[in-house]
Amino acid sequence: MRRRTLEEQRRLFGFGLLGVIALGLLWHFSPGLPVIFGPWASASTRQAGLEWFTREWEPNDPESHGDGLGPVFNARSCVACHHQGGVGGGGGNQFNVLNFVVTPNERDREMVSGTIHTHAVSKDYQESFDLVRKKYPVIKGGQRIVDHCAVFVADVDPLSTESIQTTALWGAGWIDRISDKAILKNRRGHLLTGIMDELRAKFNEIPIGRVRHLPGGKIGRFGWKAQFATLEEFVAAACANELGLGTPYSKQAQPFGRPDYPDVEPDLDRKQFRQLVAFVETLPRPIEAVPESPSERERVEQGRALFHQVGCAICHVPDLGGVKGIYSDLLLHRITDPTPSGGGGSGYGRPAPPPDVPIPDGEPHPDEWRTPPLWGVADSAPYMHDGSAPTLEAAITRHGGAAKPSRDAYRQLSSEQKQALLAFLSSLKAPPDAIPVAVREERPANRSGIRAAR
Ligand code: HEC
Ligand code: HEC
Repeated sequence: MRRRTLEEQRRLFGFGLLGVIALGLLWHFSPGLPVIFGPWASASTRQAGLEWFTREWEPNDPESHGDGLGPVFNARSCVACHHQGGVGGGGGNQFNVLNFVVTPNERDREMVSGTIHTHAVSKDYQESFDLVRKKYPVIKGGQRIVDHCAVFVADVDPLSTESIQTTALWGAGWIDRISDKAILKNRRGHLLTGIMDELRAKFNEIPIGRVRHLPGGKIGRFGWKAQFATLEEFVAAACANELGLGTPYSKQAQPFGRPDYPDVEPDLDRKQFRQLVAFVETLPRPIEAVPESPSERERVEQGRALFHQVGCAICHVPDLGGVKGIYSDLLLHRITDPTPSGGGGSGYGRPAPPPDVPIPDGEPHPDEWRTPPLWGVADSAPYMHDGSAPTLEAAITRHGGAAKPSRDAYRQLSSEQKQALLAFLSSLKAPPDAIPVAVREERPANRSGIRAAR
């Protein structure tokens, strides 16, 4: 074999080095790995997961390894709330969950949040707003002497509640697969195409949203507050908080003010939990339904163009990290107009308590919400985090704050253009192949009267 000359070796080394640098640059500027393989699970695993998702759990349930349903819970099954358009969909306002937040203040320096559960296995454990209020009363103001001067200090109410609407879980396994890098890159704007750059120039008053960095360095993407990074974590929390089912990854919700409730084994074992996660992970993703008639199709296309033109796509980004048609940046935004009292409202028109101790960096502000993915939005009314907007149009007009320029641009459209934009949103449908939900006849259609049709 011929030995390479020194010159050849140098050249080879040079090419190699260039190659490594090029690959490094490519990775740096790439949006992260695209999602090529969608979520997958075997039919038998999915079937088992469906059983857990639709099961009406009982206290001391024979399928549980702990104390079964409770001690505190909001419903007896996952499907009781997640049923709109099939097993795994959203739910109407009667299935909302009541959360409370204690903003840091001079008395309670830690941020506290939790759920006020609607049910308990015994009345000893029943939670209520009054119980929470008793622990976090209003901090009385009045005359105080500060630096030898009498000042008037207003009352501070650190406790606020939010009624949170059930989200549809379609396509959740795809959202789980979007890389953190893709979320960050989209935010930095490297991904913005030509048309988006134009948009940015036109809507430069729209502030870029905030990434929710969670303890441990992960990026939050699930939940109205982007409070969980992975689907598995959210499912574990849902078991624990909604049904009072402990899992190997989460302790069941403890009754408020009752730390004496005994520790029990996790209700679900590792296998049951994995099956439940696999079921949620492989729920079908929403579709964009193309209308049959050419004139309707044209209207939807016009609506899609207008959706970009009025700046909706700045936050509701059509494709993220290789997942097409998600319509979200998965970032936190403040889209509530400031209330007359000056506070950034937590809901609509409700003043937020003035925090006298700053909210910690990683925590969202009361009025910050994650851009909800709009896929499937045609079939998930009512809208917004509290379900306060009954229609798509009402949802759009609720946009203020950071989204005000976009809402104002929408308002200036002709009524025909508005109809086209709404027609586009109405083409974003729940998956047609979802498992249907049957309402059992023998019981009223209340929280526990809904099961899967098999
Ligand atoms: C009492 C009603 C209720 C029950 C029961 C319930 N959920 Fe939910 N679910 C909600 C609400 C409300 C939200 C929105 C919560 C939020 O974002 O803070 C939600 C959100 C979720 C999400 C996050 C979706 C996303 O994309 O952000 C997952 C996953 C989920 N639920 C799974 C489950 C599973 C699994 C069960 C059964 C163990 C369950 N839920 C039971 C009401 C319910
Ligand atoms: C600054 C970012 C931003 C812009 C711009 C924006 N949105 Fe939103 N959108 C949000 C956030 C954040 C929410 C959730 C707010 C909440 O729940 O209180 C939301 C909620 C929605 C919802 C309700 C979805 C659901 O599942 O409840 C719809 C529909 C919607 N937006 C459509 C639009 C349209 C159409 C436009 C353009 C006219 C638009 N948005 C512009 C950030 C934005």
